[in-house]
Amino acid sequence: MDLLSGKRLVLGVCGSIAAYKVAQLARDLTLAGAQVDVILTEAGARFVGAATFQALTGRPVLTSLWDLPEDGVVGHIALGAQADAVVVAPATANTIARLAAGLSDDLLTTVLLATRAPVLVAPAMNPLMYSHPATQANLVTLRERGYSLIEPGEGRMAEHVEGKGRLPEPFTLEGELRAMLGRATGPLRGRHVVVTAGGTREPIDPVRYIGNRSSGQMGHALAAQARDMGAEVTLISSAIAIPPPAAVVFVPVATALEMQAAVAAACTHADILIMNAAVADFRPASAAERKLKKHPETQGMTLELVTNPDIIGGLAARRDLFKVGFAAETDDLLAHAQSKLERKGLDLIVANDAVASIGQPEIALTLIDQHGQQPIARCPKREAAALLMAALVERLPRR
Ligand SMILES: Cc1cc2nc3c(=O)[nH]c(=O)nc-3n(C[C@H](O)[C@H](O)[C@H](O)COP(=O)(O)O)c2cc1C
Repeated sequence: MDLLSGKRLVLGVCGSIAAYKVAQLARDLTLAGAQVDVILTEAGARFVGAATFQALTGRPVLTSLWDLPEDGVVGHIALGAQADAVVVAPATANTIARLAAGLSDDLLTTVLLATRAPVLVAPAMNPLMYSHPATQANLVTLRERGYSLIEPGEGRMAEHVEGKGRLPEPFTLEGELRAMLGRATGPLRGRHVVVTAGGTREPIDPVRYIGNRSSGQMGHALAAQARDMGAEVTLISSAIAIPPPAAVVFVPVATALEMQAAVAAACTHADILIMNAAVADFRPASAAERKLKKHPETQGMTLELVTNPDIIGGLAARRDLFKVGFAAETDDLLAHAQSKLERKGLDLIVANDAVASIGQPEIALTLIDQHGQQPIARCPKREAAALLMAALVERLPRR
């Protein structure tokens, strides 16, 4: 089940031009199954109308401290107390200052004082306002009080100035919210998970490479799922066609050797390694410096290949690291997977049919460990990632 399904979220929208981006966030969170109560500040309502949020969330939009609900329940206390999380996006300099001062002079600031749920604050403002010592000091105060803060982006602002102060895209805001919820109660909170994804690219010359059909979808879905479960996630990926999930440390790589170095560095402080990437077994012995040319007299060519290192097998001595390997095979799937599990000293191996799953949107899996096999029927990769991560959590040694 999706992390956001059934969650009660309060979304505070302040008076910033970036408020328009948050309409999309309200829709995405609602479609993911959350109940989203939008609080518009007075200034916020000048940028996006309540009707927009009401239509997107299917809930009444709240604007005033004095709009008491008909059942007589004190609205701001109930909203704050029942919320699983509060998101303030865009958060203006003004609201940030009032929060830091502990004021409660409108509905949003009152709800924020009355909640003990995790709070995510996404500042958005002119770069001069953002870099002002008063705003910076207020943000330090909020961080010290345990609020999760999202760094604003850099670039061109609405008023044609460049600098730091842009509200990140809804995709990033949702990812940060999921990470915050995961850190609060998720089964992987406090753990560092390293995930590899995509098919490596081994250069032949400056424009050509040996690659494979892996899209990176499964690895990226696993990284997102681990984040939702509260883990600190490092995603080492050679996928080029899909974006990484938000709120994970993303390390882009191309070759098997680059991936090996990145895995070694990330695993020095990791608890779990999920080696999902389709790593090339061989690479050209040397990559040509210039583009290889075909000449009229040339009849074919021979490429000398050398064997790539076994990345996860090389970490067999790390008994403290829970190691999950993938076996994508075209024949004798389960036998190959079983022998790989033992040969490489893995804690769990995930067998899948290479032709039916690589580069496809759906996948069927068989999980194999020392206790036996567990099948996961063919389903979208996002669902398979959730089922696989749940099975992994069950197998983790207690701490
Ligand atoms: C066109 C326009 C755009 C604004 N954009 C921002 C903004 O991006 N960030 C910000 O902190 N304030 C911005 N302001 C100023 C706030 O709207 C103002 O400080 C207001 O009092 C904020 O109230 P609130 O924090 O209750 O929403 C803008 C004002 C105008 C007129």
